[in-house]
Amino acid sequence: MALRNIREDGDAILLKHSRPVTDFNKRLHTLLDDMRETLLAADGVGLAAPQVGILRRAVIVMDTNKVDLTPEEQIIELINPQIVSSDGEQTGQEGCLSVPGVYGIVTRPEHVVVKAQDRFGTPFTVEGTGLTARCFCHEIDHLDGHLFTEIAEHILTQEELEEMNREQE
Ligand code: NI
Repeated sequence: MALRNIREDGDAILLKHSRPVTDFNKRLHTLLDDMRETLLAADGVGLAAPQVGILRRAVIVMDTNKVDLTPEEQIIELINPQIVSSDGEQTGQEGCLSVPGVYGIVTRPEHVVVKAQDRFGTPFTVEGTGLTARCFCHEIDHLDGHLFTEIAEHILTQEELEEMNREQE
């Protein structure tokens, strides 16, 4: 496994459309293993392949609702993911490893159902609520070249960020 370089806002690759994964081979497994290591090292909750420069439809998301699991165990790998249904609404703070230090207020569904394939190509369905639902939406947006800053209702100022972080303590 190896850490991959996380591309940052201003890198044109982040605005591109990713292609479906068709080969569930060693190359894909190495990519996913590297993405896992990169996500954990960056202390994030989700990562999409284009963020490490690979224009393929693969994302990883941490199901932080599963509090009994370790961060490593919380990671869900989703290949060729598609949101098949969503309901409810949540409005809250969102950030991205590719847009370091920037946080915005973004409205997302409260609950989503996602169809995807695992690293061997086997189809599965997974549900997410709260932060996990937000993360599924955010990471899948990356596959179509979209960043949260495009849909943020408001980008938090440094003052507002400090205020919000104080409230969370
Ligand atoms: Ni992101």
